[in-house]
Amino acid sequence: MNLFSYLCPTRITFGDGTASGIGDILSEMAVSNPLIVTDKVLVEKGVLDPVLKSLADSGLKEVPIFQDVPSDSDVDCVRRAVELGKSKNCDSLIAVGGGSVIDTAKVVNIGLSMGGDLLDFEGINNLYSPLMPMVAVPTTAGTGSEVSAVAMIKDYESGKKLLFGSRFLYVNAAVLDPTMLVTLPPRLTAATGLDAVTHAIEAYVAMGANPITDSLALQSLQLLFQYLPIATASGDNLEARAQTLLASTMAGMSFTNSGVGIVHALAHTVGAKYSVHHGIANAIFLPHGMEFNIEASAARYAQVWTYLCTAFSGCSSANKALGDKFVSVADPVQAAYQLVNAVRELLKDCSLPDKLRDVKVPEFSESSLQELAETAMTDPAIMFNPREASPDDLISILKEAY
Ligand SMILES: NC(=O)c1ccc[n+]([C@@H]2O[C@H](COP(=O)([O-])OP(=O)(O)OC[C@H]3O[C@@H](n4cnc5c(N)ncnc54)[C@H](O)[C@@H]3O)[C@@H](O)[C@H]2O)c1
Ligand SMILES: [Fe+2]
Repeated sequence: MNLFSYLCPTRITFGDGTASGIGDILSEMAVSNPLIVTDKVLVEKGVLDPVLKSLADSGLKEVPIFQDVPSDSDVDCVRRAVELGKSKNCDSLIAVGGGSVIDTAKVVNIGLSMGGDLLDFEGINNLYSPLMPMVAVPTTAGTGSEVSAVAMIKDYESGKKLLFGSRFLYVNAAVLDPTMLVTLPPRLTAATGLDAVTHAIEAYVAMGANPITDSLALQSLQLLFQYLPIATASGDNLEARAQTLLASTMAGMSFTNSGVGIVHALAHTVGAKYSVHHGIANAIFLPHGMEFNIEASAARYAQVWTYLCTAFSGCSSANKALGDKFVSVADPVQAAYQLVNAVRELLKDCSLPDKLRDVKVPEFSESSLQELAETAMTDPAIMFNPREASPDDLISILKEAY
């Protein structure tokens, strides 16, 4: 077996209503002046309320709130939040939101803790000391940012996503409260869920996969295939919200240690250039990226397929459809294609698009294909892909996905 190390220093608290315990978590961390980072939708929908109440109950009544995080957060937004945090002498951060909010708060933390220019810390391992304590309360089940060592922020000048990666970007505490997701609309539930599915599938075949990341990825996929269609159709089903939230965090713990791959490299590139939501971009590229990787990873995909077939073979009558769909096959290549088909069916079950042309991406010219392929070739995600890809391979996938 290859050598590996596995890291997840984040304390995870899970359960309905746990966001109401955030005041206690701050007390345990011995901090008393947090900056809350969130977005306007969450403030308007009252998703932030239990957090504010918990802080007030702990004696923190005038907590500064930065609520201007857009869906594709950018460097300018981070700089404005850093200014607010500095002016209020904040000693900690609380991120309440989806991946955009959590990633923004992580980079704000760099700005508040390290000083200097943010862009000096872009890239992998460019932080040299711990940051201020931070708590993340995810309100989507997808990115796994609450347990990952990375943050991605858009740079509108270059039209690219900037990656910040460091062990100091693990947050201190993640509060997984399924009730915080009840207001998430169906399409965003499905799109963010497909981000988690992509994390788990890419993590399982990635170059850095190890037995710990494997087990997290497999369990995550079982939960997502079973519960994502339910959470999408019935947003107030707390059991489905809970299972998909757990699955997303487990997929995050997996991919942040194993790496992702070609699907993420393409999704980052196309998502940043044409403002396609990260989960939707992953959903569209996932079947194509898997088909490309079958040459190198048929046996690994077959292991996933066999695991899911075994898990669903004893399904109750309510889930008989899963047992009927996931049927073992002996040939690894055939099993790998079965898994790709199951992903395509999951997209359909969740009413997600499967073509870039359906999400307002303009038809590619030869020069735009070249440019996109070159950008994706330099995306750090592609380093972990199990099969080496050339720019021509990426262009073929871009054309197929269009
Ligand atoms: N750091 C990581 O490990 C990592 C991993 C994957 C993706 N990402 C990043 O995460 C970002 C995407 O995050 P996302 O997919 O969670 O979407 P998001 O954070 O962009 O949120 C999408 C929309 O959903 C709304 N929303 C969120 N929670 C809601 C709720 N409970 N009720 C109602 N509306 C709600 C938001 O207001 C927003 O309009 C991208 O920038 C991507 O690059 C980071
Ligand atoms: Fe992702």
